[in-house]
Amino acid sequence: MKLCMIGTGYVGLVSGVCFADLGNDVICVDKNIDKINNLSNGKIPIYEPGLSELVIKNFKNKKLKFSTNLKKSVKESDIIFICVGTPTKKDGSSADLSQIFNVSKEISSSINKFKIIVTKSTVPVTTGDQIEKIFLKKNNRKNFAIISNPEFLREGEAIRDFIYPDRIVVGSNDKRSSRILKNLYSPLISKGASYLHTSRRAAELIKYASNSFLATKITFINEMANLCEKIGVNIEDISIGMGLDKRIGSRFLRAGPAYGGSCFPKDTKAITSTADKFKTNLSVVKSVIKSNENRSTLLLNRVYEILNKKIKNKTITFLGVTFKANTDDMRDSSSLKMIPALSKKGAKIKYFDPTGYKKEFSKIKNVFNSLSIKDSLQGSDLVIIHTEWNDFKSINFKSLYKGKKFIIYDMRNIYSPKKIKEQGFRYYSIG
Ligand code: UGA
Repeated sequence: MKLCMIGTGYVGLVSGVCFADLGNDVICVDKNIDKINNLSNGKIPIYEPGLSELVIKNFKNKKLKFSTNLKKSVKESDIIFICVGTPTKKDGSSADLSQIFNVSKEISSSINKFKIIVTKSTVPVTTGDQIEKIFLKKNNRKNFAIISNPEFLREGEAIRDFIYPDRIVVGSNDKRSSRILKNLYSPLISKGASYLHTSRRAAELIKYASNSFLATKITFINEMANLCEKIGVNIEDISIGMGLDKRIGSRFLRAGPAYGGSCFPKDTKAITSTADKFKTNLSVVKSVIKSNENRSTLLLNRVYEILNKKIKNKTITFLGVTFKANTDDMRDSSSLKMIPALSKKGAKIKYFDPTGYKKEFSKIKNVFNSLSIKDSLQGSDLVIIHTEWNDFKSINFKSLYKGKKFIIYDMRNIYSPKKIKEQGFRYYSIG
């Protein structure tokens, strides 16, 4: 099939290249000329394992093209996927849909025959209805169908998540388009993905409900970890014990720093804001947002306790600063709150992240990027394992310290407390 992806962010680029790899002809459109030029030269703007190879392969065999010309690309395609960003509005609550509506207007004035328009971006319930109104201003109802097909891929696992999804959700009120979409996804369905057809509004809500539920699960286990710390119980035992109940499931029960990234913080806020508009109080999600926002302060207080409240002139190492492993994404990472707070209290911060230097800390006093784990540990008083990169999972700390031993605060519970303590280090973990 001939597909057009509008927006070459995470969702647009990953799904575009995966659709191309499945044999479709895909044009990825973005208004950012530099980005399109770079992509055409095999330069990928994001760090995502396996993505670069797949882009180069499909670009070379001409299944994947890049363009800044939206009109032409729309005309040449059968299905148009809207994959632009829906960030949180400046007022801090609802989703900013300006990009969605702007591209909808452009597409609606570019269509020359029947087109299926699919929103893959995460959009609040009823957005599809609003897009339809935009299209009706310029087009006959028979010339288009607006469908919701939310994407559930995770950063760092994006390609695998796209190719082996748990489910594919298609929300549409148009039978013909639903059939075409099911056909497009048939290679994934035949590999075991469940296919769910719903109304358009339901598909939009499934995405927000799923992200909010996962955020709730993480926040729940983080709060349980707080309790475990008070009563001397290991949170890992609680996660395993709960996870063995099939009704609960073991995934997303890893206690850690506050959840971050470009999705959970934004989507939990957006769904409560949508619900407020419909005069429904999503009190559970609201307390999840609050609890998560307080979590960095809670963990910082723990850092102060560990260092006996003497932060000034201490050297603190962060291993990993991104919001999770296998990504270079810093959006809403808890390190963005912790590092400036520690620097303000007079600490010197060294950080090492496998994805390198972070401009986010360039203006923060006494924050230094280290080029290796070894360098980051030299002279450190406290080592905070902030992100669960594989690179940090088997460090021989004993061979890397000189003089005074540092304290280790493992915020991802990577290490066995017993083994680290046997090596003579003071070790703290979560829960
Ligand atoms: C999330 C969802 O998992 C995807 O299904 C969804 O498609 C995506 O948002 C989106 O809406 O685009 P992502 O933000 O890439 O994916 O990252 P996750 O793997 O979900 O992690 C989010 C945060 O939760 C991270 O800070 C991670 O460290 C934290 N987390 C995750 C935990 O603290 N504990 C866990 O057990 C799992």
